[in-house]
Amino acid sequence: MFYPEEIVEEVRSRNNILDVISGYVKMQKRGSSYFGLCPFHNEKSPSFSVSPDKQMYYCFGCGAGGNVITFVMEYENYSFKEALEYLADRVGMELPKGEESKEARAQAELRVSLLEINKLAANYFYYQLKQPQGRQGYEYLTGRKLTDDTIRRFGLGFANKTSDDLYRYLKSKGYPDQLLAQTGLVTIEERGSHDKFWNRVMFPIMDVNNRVIGFGGRVMGDGTPKYLNSPETRLFDKSRNLYGLNYARTSREKYMLVCEGYMDVIALHQAGFTNGVASLGTAFTSQHGVILKRYTDQVILTYDSDSAGVKAALRAIPILKEAGISCKVLNMKPYKDPDEFIKNMGAQAFRERIEKARNSFLFEIDVLKQDFDFEDPEQKTGFYNRVAQKLLSFSDALERDTYTQAVSREYYINYQDLKQLVNRMGLRVSPETERAEGGEGRTPFVARERKREKEDGVKRSQRLLLTWLIEDPALFDKIEGIISPEDFKEELYHQVAQMVFDGHRAGDLNPAGILNRFINDEAQYKEVAGLFNASLRESLNQEEQKKAFAETVKKVKKNSLDEASRAASDIEQLQKIIQAQKELKDLNI
Ligand code: UTP
Ligand code: MN
Repeated sequence: MFYPEEIVEEVRSRNNILDVISGYVKMQKRGSSYFGLCPFHNEKSPSFSVSPDKQMYYCFGCGAGGNVITFVMEYENYSFKEALEYLADRVGMELPKGEESKEARAQAELRVSLLEINKLAANYFYYQLKQPQGRQGYEYLTGRKLTDDTIRRFGLGFANKTSDDLYRYLKSKGYPDQLLAQTGLVTIEERGSHDKFWNRVMFPIMDVNNRVIGFGGRVMGDGTPKYLNSPETRLFDKSRNLYGLNYARTSREKYMLVCEGYMDVIALHQAGFTNGVASLGTAFTSQHGVILKRYTDQVILTYDSDSAGVKAALRAIPILKEAGISCKVLNMKPYKDPDEFIKNMGAQAFRERIEKARNSFLFEIDVLKQDFDFEDPEQKTGFYNRVAQKLLSFSDALERDTYTQAVSREYYINYQDLKQLVNRMGLRVSPETERAEGGEGRTPFVARERKREKEDGVKRSQRLLLTWLIEDPALFDKIEGIISPEDFKEELYHQVAQMVFDGHRAGDLNPAGILNRFINDEAQYKEVAGLFNASLRESLNQEEQKKAFAETVKKVKKNSLDEASRAASDIEQLQKIIQAQKELKDLNI
């Protein structure tokens, strides 16, 4: 932990989780909790809950959960320290200095140093661009019709021809090799260290908070590789960052333009389309989707019009859909990308293309169609079958029908015939037939699942019991003298149980506080957050609850005794355990 536990706890408790989250997500009261649309996955109806009592959030859809600190970490992509500082600042609290653990401080300082070096490097590149030695770079950029304003706004720069220029500059600022090596900007070698980027125009990559986290560098001509990019570092995670999002997030348009490259984003912004972002040559990821969804629910894909661009679009469409973003595809032909299109046709023409962007489903059908030769009746039927299959992917009947109409209109397929084909196909892939068809292949999977379930049974009962005790502390009376934290044999549950029992005894059961102690281990805190937020009350009636509770207590105790008996070393001990096992059978809770 970077700060003493009391400090972390104070920051946490002074920031009401509902106030903080309401700043990001619209929440509505339902019972004792508040519900809203989860910012960590796509959904149409709210399953993201905030409990003011527990001071925690939990999503029943995707399992994201935690306290106010983890929320800010996840949402803003902050480190623990950054989140803590942000929240302290939010309530006007001054954090103590110099009391952190050594290792923790080193971690936090590393991030700060890397940001600082990146910023220095960006400034250095920018400065070089306007110097005589940067002339070629400057002319390259202006040759590509970028204005001084644009160059400044995107912080474009130039890496000199000398291959250790930046390295020497950063050394002169006093940074040690070992630190510089972690920036991805230089390669440290005995024979002599050198820069990763030289003789290239430089594109700093900023995160949504305008901090430089990496670079791309382009050759000024036809050399290869065309672009060099920073490697992934402590700061730079390609699958989570979109170039231009720091500006696009504040654009007033309802949609965003997603394109492929640096130059495309810059050309778009310069032409007034400040809602352009790029996934920078890497494939569009589901994390990109979730992040975009925070700012918009409509995307227009402006990928290159070559076959690679089409492929990339086909891959991005389902990801965007999964993220709850509706999507269209813009046709740039005869030009290759937004940069070329705008340079040749101007902003107004591009705007017209935006208005004519193709619905993503119809785009997919367009691409599909290219594989079929309509002169051949067999292929034509094949195409209809594929179309019907795709139409089946709409689970909403009305939506499916709307698309069936659109497709029949666009492709001159008789609407009634197409509808019938879709329905027939729908019947064929009913669960019954699917099981019959895939039956054999699945058996091993089912068997594996069963085995896993059996092993998990014991663990589950421990988890259930913990959740129960947290949800309804009155139940502690019922297990008095029967269950103690030692009976929770799962290591993680044992730790949590100890804290929960201690908290209960002290009359201060504080789930969000307990969760804090697991903050450094993502898997653990997710699991603990789940414990604190599952609700058992809603799923069972009174009588079922009583029975289930008694069974769970017995299961936990039985497992605990069984383990003890296996570990017992003398007869006396064993007799005691056997006695306890007998008593457990007759126990009435
Ligand atoms: P493109 O080849 O479409 O380049 O790659 P571009 O953006 O149109 O670049 P210009 O207009 O020729 O300058 C799209 C993106 O893929 C990544 C870059 O992020 C680029 O912007 N890329 C491409 C690389 O990382 N390395 C490469 O060698 C090429
Ligand atoms: Mn281009």
